[in-house]
Amino acid sequence: MATKRILVLNGPNLNLLGKRQPEIYGRASLSDIEKQVRALAKELGVEIDFRQSNSEGELVTWIQDAAGKFDALVINPAAYTHTSLAMRDAISAVGIPTVEIHLSNIHKRESFRHHSYIAEVAVGQIAGFGVQSYLMGLRAAAAQLV
Ligand code: DQA
Repeated sequence: MATKRILVLNGPNLNLLGKRQPEIYGRASLSDIEKQVRALAKELGVEIDFRQSNSEGELVTWIQDAAGKFDALVINPAAYTHTSLAMRDAISAVGIPTVEIHLSNIHKRESFRHHSYIAEVAVGQIAGFGVQSYLMGLRAAAAQLV
C-alpha cells in the first residue's frame, strides 16, 4: 500500500508562534511544532507536508492543489476559521478528510471565535490542547486513512 500523505496547513499569524501571546498560544515556535509533528508522522508511517501562509488565497490554492496529492488535511485556519467561506468551499470541493485544529479552546474565548466556517466540512475539531492539538489532529487524520 502506498504511503499516505497528509497536508498540514497553518493560517495567518501562526508564523509568530512563540512570541505571540504566549499565555494563550504557548511558547513553542511553529518550527518547534513542525519538528514534533514530523517525529509523530515518522512513527505513524505517514508522509507530511507542513506549510504556513498569511494569505487566504494561497491557502485556498494549496487546498485545491491537494486533490489527488494528499489523502487528508490537518488545518489550523487561525483567524480565517471565523471568516473564510472561501477556505470552507475549497475543502468541500476537494472532499479530502479534514481535521480542524486550534492551539487554544476557541469556545471559551471571545464570542466571535465560537463560530467556525470550517467545522461543518471537517471530520472533527480539536481545540485547546496547545501543541498536542497538532499531534492529536495528525493521529485523527491518519486514523481516517486505515
Ligand atoms: C487559533 C484560534 C483563532 O481564533 C486565532 O485567530 C488564531 C489561532 C488557535 O490555534 O488557537 O490565530 O486558530
